[in-house]
Amino acid sequence: MVHRIAVIPGDNIGPEVVAEGLKVLRRLQALGFGPFAYDEYPWGAGYYLKTGAPMPADGLDTIRDCDAILFGAHGDPQRVPDRVSSQGLMHKLRKGFQQYVNLRPVRLLPGVVSPLRGKDEIDFVVVRENTEGEYSGMGGRLHAGTPYELATQTTVITRIGAERVMRFAFDLARQRGGKKRAAAATKSNALSHVFGLWDEVLAEVANDYPDVECHKFHIDAFTVHLINRPEWFDVIVASNLFGDILSDEGAALAGSLGMAPSANLDPTRRHPSLFEPIHGSAPDIAGQGIANPVATILAVRMLLDWLGEAEAARRVQAAVEAVLAEGQVRTRDLGGRSTTAQLGDAICARLEAV
Ligand code: IPM
Ligand code: MG
Repeated sequence: MVHRIAVIPGDNIGPEVVAEGLKVLRRLQALGFGPFAYDEYPWGAGYYLKTGAPMPADGLDTIRDCDAILFGAHGDPQRVPDRVSSQGLMHKLRKGFQQYVNLRPVRLLPGVVSPLRGKDEIDFVVVRENTEGEYSGMGGRLHAGTPYELATQTTVITRIGAERVMRFAFDLARQRGGKKRAAAATKSNALSHVFGLWDEVLAEVANDYPDVECHKFHIDAFTVHLINRPEWFDVIVASNLFGDILSDEGAALAGSLGMAPSANLDPTRRHPSLFEPIHGSAPDIAGQGIANPVATILAVRMLLDWLGEAEAARRVQAAVEAVLAEGQVRTRDLGGRSTTAQLGDAICARLEAV
């Protein structure tokens, strides 16, 4: 059966890295996997400049029936405020399609050096709540432009929202079958209402998983533990903003933001899920052909897993690891001089025999 993929390359380096992800999919199809069909949507900041919105009003409906979404990166802060691009596109997709889990694996791959001295074992997954929390979008501005101006932004934690993402995290700890350890980020010592509820739900969910260790750290201490003992972590579960921060920290510890993929999942499969690198559109290096495509290629790997193409997914992972371990073809963020396309080509060349 053909897998229909909605492709949203986005802005700046988005299209550059998505081109390499598509290259990988085309090569896999030539090797007998798939087949895959693509519908491309030019949404993002560029689209906003042409039409007044980052995606059409009926955008969600247009792609609702696809099997998966491949997303590059959006935003062009010199021309369009980031909040406009993000609210009108990324947040609409994540919330509109109930992609309540943002899954962000962090792993130090062979041949890649962590900025942490002496650390060679980093392998954890951030399970980020993706539809509410600090990103609820609730709030507003009052008395704009006057000395009395005020702004509010409400953090929303719901029992259902916290519980479903925590259950996903505990199930994942079981499936990974490793340390079977879940670490939750909180801040209930200061944000007592929302994270008070979060902590209560955590205790209830943990009760149902006696075989999974459950730990809880306030977010400030969490960022420190992650630096001092990254090897201790297995599955991390966090609210939307805390998960955003911890996953960038994790990606940096694992060598480069250019290598960290993510999956925005609707685990019920009622809506399509979205796969993207965790990095942004990087206007500072756009157009130079030097962005690292590995994050996007590993996002393609997650997409393949989600679509049940397990062997194709395994090959992508193995090809990426083989090329990085060899160390001949590396982009600038990894200390090399190869281009985006050269790294994509090298990975494609490996797909056949891994
Ligand atoms: C991410 C990004 C987004 C987020 C931005 C672009 C709104 O940082 O996917 O992590 O904060 O969720
Ligand atoms: Mg982020």
